[in-house]
Amino acid sequence: MHWRWSSCPTVTHSPRVKRAPAQEWCASWVRLPVSGGPEATGAAFLYLPVLTWPQPAESARTAGARSDTVTGVTDADQSQDNSTDPTGGATARSVLVTGGSRGIGRAIAERFAAAGHRVATTSRSGEAPAGVLGVRCDITDAGQVEAAFTQIEEAHGPVEVLVANAGITKDTLVLRMTDEDWQQVIDTNLTGSFRVAKRAVRPMIRGRFGRIIFISSVVGLLGSAGQVNYAASKAGLLGMARSLAREVGSRGITANVIAPGFIETDMTAELADDLVAGYKKQIPLGRLGATEDVTAAVEFLAGDAAGYITGAQIPVDGGLGMGH
Ligand SMILES: NC(=O)c1ccc[n+]([C@@H]2O[C@H](COP(=O)([O-])OP(=O)(O)OC[C@H]3O[C@@H](n4cnc5c(N)ncnc54)[C@H](OP(=O)(O)O)[C@@H]3O)[C@@H](O)[C@H]2O)c1
Repeated sequence: MHWRWSSCPTVTHSPRVKRAPAQEWCASWVRLPVSGGPEATGAAFLYLPVLTWPQPAESARTAGARSDTVTGVTDADQSQDNSTDPTGGATARSVLVTGGSRGIGRAIAERFAAAGHRVATTSRSGEAPAGVLGVRCDITDAGQVEAAFTQIEEAHGPVEVLVANAGITKDTLVLRMTDEDWQQVIDTNLTGSFRVAKRAVRPMIRGRFGRIIFISSVVGLLGSAGQVNYAASKAGLLGMARSLAREVGSRGITANVIAPGFIETDMTAELADDLVAGYKKQIPLGRLGATEDVTAAVEFLAGDAAGYITGAQIPVDGGLGMGH
């Protein structure tokens, strides 16, 4: 039998294993004894090439990717990577802030817009800040959530940064709390956040990027008399964020929680002066927070610098909730 070494482009006479340049085929060599056993001294050998195509190096994006049963995402979904995303991985992002018509949400939207992002807000009433796409949407209604996302996606592309901020209170002591008081707060603060996060996640998985930030409250872990419904809804956000973080972390999506303390907005404007004075005594920094205190933390979690932070709860409470 004649073997022509030159029939293989990567062959030299000496090596038993030789690799072709990257992205070309690899030749492994199988050495077969022509006579005698492989251990036989002075035996003649025949070298046969075994050609294989190299597997592409596992990228950081796909490393650790989970099975579809975990994420529910099909191969077709996964084939769309960031290169088709309108942002093209640039710094400017498509941002959605729920409850962005006033208070903390409005301040967050203004901050992202000022930084050059494409920002949308949702609310049942009120107006969005200048330069922000305002969409009418009650987050307790799944149909309205779907319609709002469709409108935002048409205008700005898939939502890459979701700030689930919309929230309400219906405070009263537990013995007076009606099922409706309970249900409305849970449906807005917890289930509403679930609705928007669920709707946002699939396009984020396709884009291999996402930042989900839930606005909780110090009350979620501290508890508060008269806020059984509110505290339960806010504590639930942490469990939701941490579960999401585990489900979609391998797709470049982070899910975190910010737990503000007492921040000066419409929500806290109703508090009696003596109550506020009492709260201030309990806050190590001795003051209520400003909306800017919260927006700074949100901006950090949404940015590249926070890419390795997920499942975390960041308190923005002047130290009120320390130890929880
Ligand atoms: N202020 C604080 O001290 C403090 C402390 C801890 C946590 N937080 C949390 O921070 C978030 C913002 O608080 P904030 O003080 O800024 O409250 P806010 O001034 O009362 O604003 C709440 C926002 O949520 C929207 N919203 C309420 N229900 C909605 C619904 N069903 N669908 C869509 N949008 C809805 C409101 O707009 P519409 O009413 O027009 O719908 C508004 O834009 C809340 O989740 C709150 O629990 C606040």
